[in-house]
Amino acid sequence: MTSLIEVENIGKTYGSVIALSDVSTVVNAGEVTCVLGDNGAGKSTLIKILAGVHQHDQGSFKVEGDEIKFSSPREALDRGIATVYQDLAVVPLMSVWRNFFLGSEPTTKFGFLDRKKGREITKKALSDMGIDLRDVEQPVGTLSGGERQCVAIARAVHFGAKVLILDEPTAALGVKQAGVVLKYVAQARDRGLGVVLITHNPHHAYPVANRFLLLKRGRALGSYEKNEIDINELTRQMAGGAELEALEHELRGVEA
Ligand SMILES: Nc1ncnc2c1ncn2[C@@H]1O[C@H](COP(=O)(O)OP(=O)(O)OP(=O)(O)O)[C@@H](O)[C@H]1O
Ligand SMILES: [Mg+2]
Repeated sequence: MTSLIEVENIGKTYGSVIALSDVSTVVNAGEVTCVLGDNGAGKSTLIKILAGVHQHDQGSFKVEGDEIKFSSPREALDRGIATVYQDLAVVPLMSVWRNFFLGSEPTTKFGFLDRKKGREITKKALSDMGIDLRDVEQPVGTLSGGERQCVAIARAVHFGAKVLILDEPTAALGVKQAGVVLKYVAQARDRGLGVVLITHNPHHAYPVANRFLLLKRGRALGSYEKNEIDINELTRQMAGGAELEALEHELRGVEA
């Protein structure tokens, strides 16, 4: 089976800053590849390359077997790579269903906006993902952060994305909402999409992911299939092992 995405020894510099160097991973249909790492690790740089925002200057990037260098996000989208950014490109005062289409609304045969159809399609797409919104006419700004992420995921699935990239979708969420978003990540996976999930939190990553790519200062600290690493070891590696032990030492005696 050809991977949806395959990067090999990929690298990117911004002027003299090496943001990413020598990183390799795959994204397969029906699987979640999780990218973990601390601030400045290169996570966003990696997904911006996949999403067509930036171009790599080292290594190889293949989409369904074809060597690729996207020159715009539009090109990535045309190849079925959809990205949901942390800040979400939503218009808060616009209704949920208009946000769902954002420019590709259905029209009547006379070319007018078909509101009824738009609302129906949105309602159906959301309910297919198990998202039950009372009213798709309500402004998207009235939804919780978690619900907005869910609408964005349902949107990518509806418009036929093959790869869904999520940049820290659970970062700003409470435990319960993070759980809901992760449930939809699992649903997108089970519908056959390849998912790239970026997170700081190994506890969010572990249940849904098939493989883990750990980045640190632009380099791969490790790359594991799920059966190669347990949650404790993943957490330890994330925290930088020795660094964590040093921190524990520092914190000894500060408990109340
Ligand atoms: N446009 C840019 N110009 C110059 N340097 C950049 C640019 N974008 C990122 N960098 C640098 O590249 C490195 C990796 O940044 P990146 O945004 O990929 O990290 P990240 O893992 O997404 O971090 P965070 O968790 O804070 O979002 C950092 O040192 C950053 O300062
Ligand atoms: Mg980032």
